[in-house]
Amino acid sequence: MTVIRLLVGSVYGGALMTARAVARALEAEGHPAIVLENPELADVAGTEGPLLVCTSTTGQGEVPPNLLPFYLDLRDQLPQQPGRPFGVVVLGDSSYGDTFCGAGNLMEEALLETGARKCGQTLTIDALEVLEPEQEAVPWALEWASTWASGPTGQP
Ligand SMILES: Cc1cc2nc3c(=O)[nH]c(=O)nc-3n(C[C@H](O)[C@H](O)[C@H](O)COP(=O)(O)O)c2cc1C
Repeated sequence: MTVIRLLVGSVYGGALMTARAVARALEAEGHPAIVLENPELADVAGTEGPLLVCTSTTGQGEVPPNLLPFYLDLRDQLPQQPGRPFGVVVLGDSSYGDTFCGAGNLMEEALLETGARKCGQTLTIDALEVLEPEQEAVPWALEWASTWASGPTGQP
């Protein structure tokens, strides 16, 4: 069965809690899911199946430190994975203005460079408005999973 790998970037734990809630919900719907709390490129290289980025934003629109090595290796090595489905859930805070949810854009750009295929619109979660990010992320992720799973090219 196809396994969904969740790539977590989190400073204070909000995105990690969100990823865990999403993984539980996906599992409950029959989608095996692995939460990668400190992802390395080796965790996904040579594997198949969709990738779900679940990251917060830090610094000035930057990727959190625990996801940074993955991001940098991805950008440097550009392992080609044509058509591999991916989605993006990104936490941020709109009071940061132009850098709002910037980490999601960085991850998306790097994944697109590898030939991976984005499924669904990025879900941005604004800490100014949403206290419990998993309440937005879970329904979004279930819909996302049905999208890539049902399409003819969604089959890994
Ligand atoms: C030092 C710091 C820098 C941040 N920089 C940004 C930013 O540039 N853009 C943004 O949208 N949110 C920014 N945020 C907000 C966080 O992304 C947001 O609070 C998020 O919910 C934190 O998730 P986490 O608990 O997984 O780290 C920043 C937060 C902190 C504390």
